[in-house]
Amino acid sequence: MSKFKTFRLGAICVVIALSFQTTLSHAQPRGIHISWNGPKAETSTTMGITWLNDNTDNGVVQYGLNAGNLNRSITATEAYSTGVKTYISKATLQGLKPATFYFYKVGSEKNGWSAVYKFKTAPIEGDKSKILIGLWSDTQNNGGNLNFEQTDTIIRQFGKNTYDFTIHTGDIVENGSVAKSWRDYFNTAQPVNASAPFMAVPGNHDVVNDTASRIFQQPFPIFYELMNLPGSQLNYSYNYGNAHFIAINSGYAQGAEKVGKVLFAENSDEYRWLEADLKSARSNKNIKWVIMYSHYPLFVFGVSHIQTWQNHLQPLVDKYKVDLYIAGHRHVYERHKAIRGTQVFEQPDMHVYDKPQGTVYVDNGSFGGSLQGPGGWDVPDVLFTPRQKIYTYSTMSIEGNTIEYKVFDKQGNPVDHFKLIKE
Ligand SMILES: [Fe+2]
Repeated sequence: MSKFKTFRLGAICVVIALSFQTTLSHAQPRGIHISWNGPKAETSTTMGITWLNDNTDNGVVQYGLNAGNLNRSITATEAYSTGVKTYISKATLQGLKPATFYFYKVGSEKNGWSAVYKFKTAPIEGDKSKILIGLWSDTQNNGGNLNFEQTDTIIRQFGKNTYDFTIHTGDIVENGSVAKSWRDYFNTAQPVNASAPFMAVPGNHDVVNDTASRIFQQPFPIFYELMNLPGSQLNYSYNYGNAHFIAINSGYAQGAEKVGKVLFAENSDEYRWLEADLKSARSNKNIKWVIMYSHYPLFVFGVSHIQTWQNHLQPLVDKYKVDLYIAGHRHVYERHKAIRGTQVFEQPDMHVYDKPQGTVYVDNGSFGGSLQGPGGWDVPDVLFTPRQKIYTYSTMSIEGNTIEYKVFDKQGNPVDHFKLIKE
């Protein structure tokens, strides 16, 4: 073989090897996120796993109790998404043991495997052991966060904790109709979402804002393709230990108010669902805490406050004595005094809500979207908001009759903390 021929053959081999490697790395599972799903989220015994893939492969989840022995396997349901332009695979592991760590990987021999990740199932209902929840919101790719670079930085701190699950209170992306944003978000968030169930609600940027649309205030079809949440995926609830969590879709409350379409009007379908859910939670002896969350807050400074939204929800929150209401939307961290009706309850220690007679309202909107900064000092019920424009993330532990809530800046420095104590 001539020198030229040898060179040419070598070059061709290198090109083939490189393109094979590129194909493999592109084809590997990405955007992996786990969550509970189904008509009733069985947090102690099931886990939903979702991932994205460039090529069809009828991928599987291999899982087990030991990282070195993934001895069980389930084939995912795979569907091509014309919106996201990838295959999306979903599988639900069933019959798991409560309060148990499981290890898993997803993919196939054909396209390659993910790393091995670990999650923990919920304890049995009523269990009082300590749990840790991660809280995030408004990760939307706008302002200085066009490629989720701020969100990525905050995740590096946020992801140092091991969460039992996370609550994302919406505006996950800047424009819910843009597939690339969802792909980028799920890739950026994979270090957290592959190990902690991602229990999100949509924000106004994730839903259709056109008031004339048949699906006004509902997410774009991409949302349903990518998410794997319980019930309608918009309004749903689940139990974890001795706490009941209720997630509700606040749609585009600001635009809806102008055309009389704010969600959760008295006697609407969603209102009746919520009341039945609250009633059932409050009659369940295993449940001590009722925690609600939505994108739009009921109490917040300035233009972010939608009075009709508050009017629709607060009577139910008060009637069923919801302990804590978590929201986002305004890109700031803001914490309020306990409220019931028009009554605002003072407390001797600003860091302790000791058996409060009202609901505690917290807004956590600064996980990447352009910062709006403090505005709340002239609102009489605001108890704390940072004086500077800063990105923050929050964590919440629940143990028996105590909730401990901590807020950090993007370097992990403490910003605020409080305890909420029940009888
Ligand atoms: Fe928002």
